[in-house]
Amino acid sequence: MMDLENLLSGPLSRLNPRVADWAYAGLRRIPTVRRRLETEFDGLLSTLREAVKPYRDELPSYRRLPQQGMDRADVLAQLELLAAREEHRWKDGYVSGAVYHGDEDHLEFLGTVAELHSQANPLHADLWPSAIKFEAEIVSMTAGMLGANQTADEIVGTVTSGGTESILLAMKAYRDRGARRGIKRPEIVAPVTAHVAFDKAAQYLGLTLIRIPVDESFRADVPAAAAVIGRNTVAVAGSAPAFPHGTIDPIEELSTLAAERGVGFHTDACLGGFVLPWAEKLGHPVPPFDFRLPGVTSMSADTHKYGFASKGTSVIVYRGRELRRFQYFTAANWPGGLYSSPTLAGSRPGSLSAACWAAMVSMGESGYLEATARILETAAAIRSGIERIPELNIVGDPLFVVAFGSETLDMYRVMEHMNGRGWNLTGLQSPPALHLAVTLRHTSGGVAERFLGDLQAALADVNTHAHDRSGVAPVYGMAAMVPARTVVGELLERYIDLLYEV
Ligand SMILES: Cc1ncc(COP(=O)(O)O)c(C=O)c1O
Repeated sequence: MMDLENLLSGPLSRLNPRVADWAYAGLRRIPTVRRRLETEFDGLLSTLREAVKPYRDELPSYRRLPQQGMDRADVLAQLELLAAREEHRWKDGYVSGAVYHGDEDHLEFLGTVAELHSQANPLHADLWPSAIKFEAEIVSMTAGMLGANQTADEIVGTVTSGGTESILLAMKAYRDRGARRGIKRPEIVAPVTAHVAFDKAAQYLGLTLIRIPVDESFRADVPAAAAVIGRNTVAVAGSAPAFPHGTIDPIEELSTLAAERGVGFHTDACLGGFVLPWAEKLGHPVPPFDFRLPGVTSMSADTHKYGFASKGTSVIVYRGRELRRFQYFTAANWPGGLYSSPTLAGSRPGSLSAACWAAMVSMGESGYLEATARILETAAAIRSGIERIPELNIVGDPLFVVAFGSETLDMYRVMEHMNGRGWNLTGLQSPPALHLAVTLRHTSGGVAERFLGDLQAALADVNTHAHDRSGVAPVYGMAAMVPARTVVGELLERYIDLLYEV
């Protein structure tokens, strides 16, 4: 690994990124360099393979359909074994985010609901009007939570499959509204910390994404946004809060600016949509971020995160039906019949919408308030514990996503050592840091204390094993080198290939 790092941090690192990419492409064609790269890739991927393919030698693999169908009891036995093997880390609170509720009775309840509505498909509204009822009410309840009741405008939306799809669809709506207004080269503006789903949307939809910097508190730099909004801008976005450091952008200033320039403004509240309204009610200082701000024209809020629904649902909400219509797809002359669909997928899992609705109505305001109080209390305890560790510093001003870095330690090695102790934290870049998105899994059973104890121990491990450079730590090191990004991009592609190896 160090070889590859040396290669990339050498002369290439002094080149302008475009030239470096070009030089890398050239270097890659030289057989010795190519062979060395392949060896390095193989080495890295074999470590990753161990982590994501643990069952290879243990359980039968199905490269082809079994000739005779397996006995259902045997299938279930395999599934039970796999679930049992994988549940300990998230159940016992070793994981950042990922499973946001996870109490057994809650999961059992969601499972029962999904089973009852297992065949439902909202695409066929006439067959499953219940699915349509659930979705309309999910949107309405979410909108109400996000300020819809305190604005004269109608706030409408749809249920989607997740945060990424919500963002993608909002950007599609702005692109298509822009096209109606004559914008041929649409641009969107978002802080560097806004979720990478905005890059995905730009790539899929042919938009140009202009990333603006954040200030020293990791919040979007408003003058920088003002400087780049131009006649091709179709939307500006900010996060409440942003995934990396849990910081809330200055949504009021950004949305006012967008309104003054006549462009849309999207608050990405995928992470915070089901926390911030309750945090505010609990008296925490939450800056305005929702439809109470007149410049906010759309928002995304993920039911499958702090909404405590099963994975696979999110909500996208708009100010007014006109904007929402730009999201829709309709076809009037297809031989297969008249077709219309609100979101990316055609057929959709009605079971997930039913479970989402059930999660929301069973939690109610009181349930979300109580959950938020517990999460914020735990996050504050973790934050102050980290603040007491001299080698570490808190990044930004976290409420429930606690990010921390260090002036002296390699945070990716801290991540590796935490991993060795069972933890699954998120690695962040620019600056190198880690975060723990606090969920209900962390709020009981002494998890916060265990986290802080393991963190102290991991720091000691890093100091004791100063020369150990294993795991993904070096890959993060490489990604920080501009010309190495192409290599890391290639590695990430190979990683996805690896996931689909039987
Ligand atoms: C702020 C924010 N936006 C968008 C997303 C994307 O959500 P998903 O993974 O559900 O597509 C996330 C995911 O963590 C997020 O934190």
